[in-house]
Amino acid sequence: MNINDSIKNRHSVRKYTEKKIEGEVLESLNNKIDEINTESGLNIQLVTDEPKAFQSSLAKYGKFSGVNNYIVLIGKKGRYLSETCGYYGQKLVLYAQSLGLNTCWVALTYNKVDGAYRVASDEKLACVIAIGYGENHGTKSNSKSVSDVIDGSVDEMPEWFLDGVESALLAPTAVNQQKFKIKLVDENEVDIQPGLGFYTNIDLGIVKYHFEVGAGSCNFEWA
Ligand SMILES: Cc1cc2nc3c(=O)[nH]c(=O)nc-3n(C[C@H](O)[C@H](O)[C@H](O)COP(=O)(O)O)c2cc1C
Repeated sequence: MNINDSIKNRHSVRKYTEKKIEGEVLESLNNKIDEINTESGLNIQLVTDEPKAFQSSLAKYGKFSGVNNYIVLIGKKGRYLSETCGYYGQKLVLYAQSLGLNTCWVALTYNKVDGAYRVASDEKLACVIAIGYGENHGTKSNSKSVSDVIDGSVDEMPEWFLDGVESALLAPTAVNQQKFKIKLVDENEVDIQPGLGFYTNIDLGIVKYHFEVGAGSCNFEWA
C-alpha cells in the first residue's frame, strides 16, 4: 500500500477487536516511532495492552470500545508543539494504515493513566491516537469542497496545488471541522492558516503533512 492509498483508505475507527499488535507489525511500528522521535525531537510513546484510558464513561460517550493500545504524542512545551505533534502523528497514522492497523485521533474522549507513559516536567502530552485492529475500517466522513478551503479561483490553480488540497481534505480534523484555509501566494509558495476552533493547531500539522504528500514537496515551499 503506497502513501496515497493510505490517505484514501484511512478513516477514524473507534471499535477494536481483541487482536494484539505483535511480532513484525509491533517491531515496525516501534522502529517508525524511534525514527520519527529522532527526526522531530518529540517523545512519542506506544502504549500496548492498557485498556484503562478508554474504559470510562467519557470514552463510551465517544463511542470507543476495545481500545487496548494507543500512541501518546508528547514533546517539549512550546509554541509549535501542537502543530509538530499533528504533523508527525499523522505520519505515524498513515504508516500504521500501511501495516493494516486502524487508528483514531483523540484529544478529549480518553483518560490519562498514571504510569502508562512518561511525561517530563518540561514536556506536555498534546494528544493521543487509538490504534489496533478495527472491527471495521471506518467510513468516509463528509468533506468540504476544494473551493471552500482555498483562497482564489479553482480554475486558476496549478494541478499540483489542487492535488495537495484534495489530499488535505482527506485529513482528519477535530470534530471534522476542516477550519484551515490554503492559499497559493506565489508561483511555488503556499500559505496555510489554521482557522479558529478547538485543536486547530494539531489539525494544521496533520493537514500540512497531507498537503505535502498530495502536492509533492518538490513543487512548493511553505510561505
Ligand atoms: C486533533 C483531533 C482530535 C480529535 N479528538 C477526538 C475525540 O476526542 N474523540 C473522538 O471520538 N474523535 C476525535 N477525533 C476524530 C475526528 O472526529 C475525526 O477525525 C473526524 O470526524 C473526521 O473523520 P475521519 O477521521 O474518519 O476522516 C479527533 C481528530 C483530531 C484530528
